[in-house]
Amino acid sequence: MDKRCFTEPVKPLSYRSIINFKQLHLFDDPDMKLFNIKLKELIIATGLMLLSGSGFAQPMKNTNQPEINRKWWKEAIFYQIYPRSFMDSNGDGIGDLKGIISKLDYVKSLGVDAVWLNPVYASPNYDNGYDISDYQNIMKEFGVMQDFDVMLKGFHDRGIKVIMDLVVNHCSSEHKWFKAARISRKSRYYNYFHWWPAENGAPPKRWSAFDPDANAWKYNKATNSYYLHYFAAQQPDLNWENPKLRQEIYKMMRFWLDKGIDGFRMDAIAYISKDLTFPPLHAKYHGDWAMYYAGGPHLHEYIKEMNRQVLNKYNAATVAEAMGTVNDVMKFVDPVRSELNMAYHFEGVNIGYLPNEYKMVNPKGYGLLKFKRVYSKWDSAFATKGWGTIYLGNHDQPRMVTRWGNDSPEFREVSSKMLTTFILSMGGTPYYYFGDELGMSNIKFDKISDYNDIELLTNYAQVKAKGGDTNRFIEGMKISSRDNGRTPFQWNASANGGFTTGKPWLKVNPNYISVNVEAEEKDTNSVLNYFKEMVKLRKSNLAFVYGKYTLIDAGNPDVYAYTRELNNDKYLIVLNFHAKTAATNVGFDMTGIKTMINNYADGPVTDNAGQITLKPYEAAVFKIK
Ligand code: NOJ
Ligand code: CA
Repeated sequence: MDKRCFTEPVKPLSYRSIINFKQLHLFDDPDMKLFNIKLKELIIATGLMLLSGSGFAQPMKNTNQPEINRKWWKEAIFYQIYPRSFMDSNGDGIGDLKGIISKLDYVKSLGVDAVWLNPVYASPNYDNGYDISDYQNIMKEFGVMQDFDVMLKGFHDRGIKVIMDLVVNHCSSEHKWFKAARISRKSRYYNYFHWWPAENGAPPKRWSAFDPDANAWKYNKATNSYYLHYFAAQQPDLNWENPKLRQEIYKMMRFWLDKGIDGFRMDAIAYISKDLTFPPLHAKYHGDWAMYYAGGPHLHEYIKEMNRQVLNKYNAATVAEAMGTVNDVMKFVDPVRSELNMAYHFEGVNIGYLPNEYKMVNPKGYGLLKFKRVYSKWDSAFATKGWGTIYLGNHDQPRMVTRWGNDSPEFREVSSKMLTTFILSMGGTPYYYFGDELGMSNIKFDKISDYNDIELLTNYAQVKAKGGDTNRFIEGMKISSRDNGRTPFQWNASANGGFTTGKPWLKVNPNYISVNVEAEEKDTNSVLNYFKEMVKLRKSNLAFVYGKYTLIDAGNPDVYAYTRELNNDKYLIVLNFHAKTAATNVGFDMTGIKTMINNYADGPVTDNAGQITLKPYEAAVFKIK
């Protein structure tokens, strides 16, 4: 059985403008001032000139691109904050809301439009907030509700929207519903969870991601039944087949939306519906159980209901953690289905692992050809309907520069910038992980005792129990473990990177001495300043959001090259993914073509035969039209 993270399914998953002024519905869409723009009807640049400066009106020529429906969440750059590691205000070593409040201006300075905040709800923290014991309260380590309100207002005052995690496939075993349910089968909360009565014999096999025995059923003596937990035993699955439970969840969602949050990132949402007969799993799911879990019988009925009863009343932005094939994922985001807005897939971040092992990267590397195929496939899936996302890091992933670039002293900065160029020039909404803008890299713990992550510790215990090679495991985790992406943010060169005056909950990467905000703000060539420039570039032209993506030189194993084109604007992006000089031929004369951004002091060498020669990890964006 494959033991990779539950959140990372096992197999690579096969799983505009003359604006037509009659269609200009300014303020129809409260959060975005939606223009219904018809690209085809592009005409008179003159009228648009008057609007220039709004950032929404670009003189565009007539092309045959499909109609686009502008939304703020399509055009936004999201910045993900892992609160536990962002900023500690009181010296207890744990990041908190007051810490975030003290750094609102930093977030503003990045130029991002929205923040995704990992869970801040009350939690005993078996899975760092993904085990919620009270959905309408703040985790005591993070502060109180008033801090949340101040933080939300602070973001809004700066024009930054906030989406929160919605973790409703499961709650915490310390949630009052579960505490009551586990006492008696007669409890009114018993059916808020999934149970298998012991008198029916042993429950049918279900795998668990964070269980030492990988068993998703746990026996509960008081009720003489087993409860289901796809994740840890401290994370019992909620019973979505029970309409009462669904109403509780919707009520809770309204509570947060009424406060003014701008939407939700939906954790493990694909797993919420279960076949209550719990049939034995078909052999085809063996080793690929996430695929089975993600296809529950009433999943989309419930999402549609949630949309009808909650989401569409608030115009909330939503992003689904969505496992599966393009077809599976499309179901969440095809607008005609009225479910969710955006989805993120796992096929990209799962590239380059050895088969049948827990997150062991292939020593040969991940293969750029495969990388290009996967991102091109998902781009074309969303080119005509639905909406995707683009990301290379988050709290479930290692640091992007270590995993996808090169964190050696020679190449850390330049490859970080190259990856940032990729994320911010591709289609789909970028979800950019905090710290990547500094080029933060994996800490690479040598000792198991340095780790905190339940997923990693569970898998380590399993390797050990089977007499496996724990040294090899630790070596592998230096590249892939989630804790690499969770080390505290690096603000300055003072002790613990200025994150805390106390003992940080997870060690700070010792490279904070040079990799930190204060140093990088001063250095015009820093990764941080490059990120800000790239943010500006993305926001300067809608081609980066709505433009057609065309892969060029697909068979080039070192260079990822593509164009983004919208009406009369066309950009060429060239990215060398390797530590050696590489060339691509784009097939047209590059003489006189304007370079918009480049991660070296002297730009790439181009010629009139379309040849572009790139230095190691060089990235450039050209405006070719
Ligand atoms: C996905 C979250 O991103 C991850 O951090 C968590 O462990 C699981 N879902 C369980 O909630
Ligand atoms: Ca604190």
